[in-house]
Amino acid sequence: MKKEKIVIFDTTLRDGEQSLSSSLSVKQKLRIARQLAQLNVDVIEAGFPISSPGDFESVSTIAKEIKGPVICGLARLVEKDIVTCVKAIRPAKQPRLHTFIGTSPIHRQGQLRKSQDEVLEMVRRCVKLARRFCPDVEFSPMDAGRTEEDFLCSVVELAIASGARTVNIPDTVGYTTPEQFAAMIDMLRDRVPNIDRAVISVHCHNDLGMATANSLTAVSHGARQIECSVNGIGERAGNTALEEVVMALKVRQDLFADVYSAVNTREIMRTSRLVREICNMPVQPNKAIVGSNAFAHSSGIHQDGVLKAKQTYEIMTPESVGLKENRMNLTSRSGSHMVKSRLQALGYRGMDFDLDEYYKRFIALADKKGSVYDDDLIALMESKDEKDLEDRYTLEYLNVSSGRGTVPTATARIAVDGKVREEASTGDGAVDAATKAIDRIVGYNITLENYHLEAVTGGREAQGRVTVVGRSPEGVFTGTGTSTDIVEASALAYMDIVNKIARMKKFKRKLPK
Ligand code: KIV
Ligand code: ZN
Repeated sequence: MKKEKIVIFDTTLRDGEQSLSSSLSVKQKLRIARQLAQLNVDVIEAGFPISSPGDFESVSTIAKEIKGPVICGLARLVEKDIVTCVKAIRPAKQPRLHTFIGTSPIHRQGQLRKSQDEVLEMVRRCVKLARRFCPDVEFSPMDAGRTEEDFLCSVVELAIASGARTVNIPDTVGYTTPEQFAAMIDMLRDRVPNIDRAVISVHCHNDLGMATANSLTAVSHGARQIECSVNGIGERAGNTALEEVVMALKVRQDLFADVYSAVNTREIMRTSRLVREICNMPVQPNKAIVGSNAFAHSSGIHQDGVLKAKQTYEIMTPESVGLKENRMNLTSRSGSHMVKSRLQALGYRGMDFDLDEYYKRFIALADKKGSVYDDDLIALMESKDEKDLEDRYTLEYLNVSSGRGTVPTATARIAVDGKVREEASTGDGAVDAATKAIDRIVGYNITLENYHLEAVTGGREAQGRVTVVGRSPEGVFTGTGTSTDIVEASALAYMDIVNKIARMKKFKRKLPK
């Protein structure tokens, strides 16, 4: 049996971008488009050229620069939009023009103030016009999910007769359920006489959390294009998440045996990270496929299962989405089997120690700290008593001056081995000045790789929690610090790393790479 391809139409740069608090620059859109081409999506919807000169430039630059995927631009079903869109997509090797109009009663009467006949006339005229300029035309009856069945059939039939090659069925407000959406696809296939001359596409929003289910059900009922976005970003609750539908098609080949997607799934994580960084749109930790916990195991029973056979709790490999490995969160819920396994990975192989005793100390630490990292395990293993675990360096005083038109300067005073040392430094911002002043005292070689600030309490007096990741010859360490002053929280997080490195040096240990 020959498998049919599901066309993956990515709308991160159009529907996704529309939902951001500030729009992306041409350069930012181009960076994302390059990565989408690496991901091997079939169509990139690069923007809505009439909406602004900036968006026009983004679409035309992407059309010029990006090779591989079809480059698509969006246009309302009006002449000036179509003409502008055609100009923007013209440089593409394979351009597509996507045109749409609201067809549900609420859109026709409430927003457009058009009768059914007027809408039909616009479809006939504008789809034909688009087709004169561009051989690949896609048509969307917006809010199809709430459009009267007879009218939807007439609109779709007329769009195909006027030249649309793809008819996209949007559930614009994420209102339908999988059963209803499947019935709508069945109805169109039964009742639209020329439906075989077009690809049926679906464009689902996630207002009721059903976008992925609706898209996949539509595939089972004959849809052959899915419109989706990376990390599911899009208007309101977002669009169907690309990573979810693509991995579902791959993982559940038993259910989708007759179809495939050409997406290079190993590029999923890289694309997700790029989109979250450029769009400044964090991903919830428990988000399917790309959340930070999607391949992390926490409970003792799960960790034990995964150590014995990964498939017990993993339906896909982390490698298949471009991650190096899964993650075992060491907390007070971790069992002694897990702790032993991690100790072995850290080189404690002989087990010439009392695991039961060690595990008791581990649990006490985990209860105190929450998460236990590799450096904590080593410190527990190497320390003879509580004194061995104490911090070598204590930040006693920090003064930072910064502001518009001044050079940020910090003075830090640190107690070390019973003595007090003080240093000052300038920097590229207050946090940089503070960490440089600390560096001058401790003399470690630390490169900051990640910095994350979050508010842990609300209101004006909010506490900021800073998490930093720093690389040193002793390994990569995570440090945290909390304060109402974010520069102080940053300095404390940095000091956390400094003390971890000090312990590794004392124990003459390094973390594994
Ligand atoms: O949600 C929607 O209906 C859209 C259309 C432009 C396809 O984004
Ligand atoms: Zn949409």
